[in-house]
Amino acid sequence: MSITSFSLSSFRNIEAASFSPQCINIIFGENGSGKTSLLEAIYFLSHGRSFRTSKHRTVIREGAEKFVLHAKKRSNNLTIPLGLQKNSQGETLIKIQGKPSRRISDLAQVLPVQVITPDSYSFFFGGPKERRSFVDLGVFHVEHEFFVHWQNFNKVLKQRNALLKSKPRELHSMLAVWDKEFVRLAEKITQLRESYIERFKTLFFDRLCTELELLNDLEIVFDQGWKSKESLLEVLKQNRESDLMRGYTSKGPHKADLTIKTSLGLVENAFSRGQLKLLLYALKVAQNSLIEQETGKQSILLIDDLPSELSEDTKGKVGKLLAHCESQIFITTIEPESVSAVLDALDKPKALFHVKHGELITR
Ligand SMILES: Nc1ncnc2c1ncn2[C@@H]1O[C@H](COP(=O)(O)OP(=O)(O)OP(=O)(O)O)[C@@H](O)[C@H]1O
Ligand SMILES: [Mg+2]
Repeated sequence: MSITSFSLSSFRNIEAASFSPQCINIIFGENGSGKTSLLEAIYFLSHGRSFRTSKHRTVIREGAEKFVLHAKKRSNNLTIPLGLQKNSQGETLIKIQGKPSRRISDLAQVLPVQVITPDSYSFFFGGPKERRSFVDLGVFHVEHEFFVHWQNFNKVLKQRNALLKSKPRELHSMLAVWDKEFVRLAEKITQLRESYIERFKTLFFDRLCTELELLNDLEIVFDQGWKSKESLLEVLKQNRESDLMRGYTSKGPHKADLTIKTSLGLVENAFSRGQLKLLLYALKVAQNSLIEQETGKQSILLIDDLPSELSEDTKGKVGKLLAHCESQIFITTIEPESVSAVLDALDKPKALFHVKHGELITR
């Protein structure tokens, strides 16, 4: 199990609460009781931000100065205490094993967390950013060197775009220098992403789709951000004039994308909403399983409002998928009965938590 205890104070409508999660956790209660807020708090402790808003002030309980989150994470017979607090000025304090840390990525390394909400359809319908972040989250956890390359690449990209906008007199000689570094880092990032996607696809198709007889006839295609047969240095040169007009770099790994197709075309055009949701579950479960398999880190899957838009039959399939995954799972629902088809498939220790006006009652 991943988190053995969790406490929060002054977070959304929750003044103070603490609980001891099990492998499978059902959080239920009326609309506006604080269910999503609990998931949001767990996500915040891993990502240093909310999945609902970028405005940290709206997360701090009305009238309070700061919120505080604490968890104990179990890992290889070790208990790792984790803490994060954020005040209304936006200052963040992080502690890992009692020691202060300045980097959110340190928390994310210890606590891999993924979330599925009723808005997660944007994964298919939104732009490539979210699909790219999905791939990068996986690569971040399984490849140590990725994060540094990714950070450095983003610095170079920013510099290159600033040059394209400001057009200094020595533009072309300066671009020649930046382009070399751009290509060097782009190739490293792309190689790590590609090799991750290959392993991801094997697990996704062999372990989930074939074994569980779900989601047949799918194809996952990774687009690296420029034509795969062309040298990136050449592509940058060819696009230099149009990039100068646009004021930004139009090709490179910052434009990478993941497309998922059936014989009828892209899934977003071919699948029903329930089928898309099942596919999303399968993608997240595969990702968590791969992280667990390659790092030994147990990850967490947060599922907000699981029953929404799912028929009983699809809920059963979601249950089969979740049974296949070793993650610690937190599910929110208004009524616990509406997730029984999912829970029936999960033969693991479960805990029920009732949320009422921001207070938590363990059942
Ligand atoms: N900063 C805040 N301070 C106090 N209360 C807040 C704050 N932000 C949001 N709230 C309130 O917290 C409550 C809980 O919201 P939350 O989204 O967690 O509810 P929920 O149980 O998930 O409801 P639903 O079933 O409708 O999704 C809401 O009533 C909301 O108005
Ligand atoms: Mg909610």
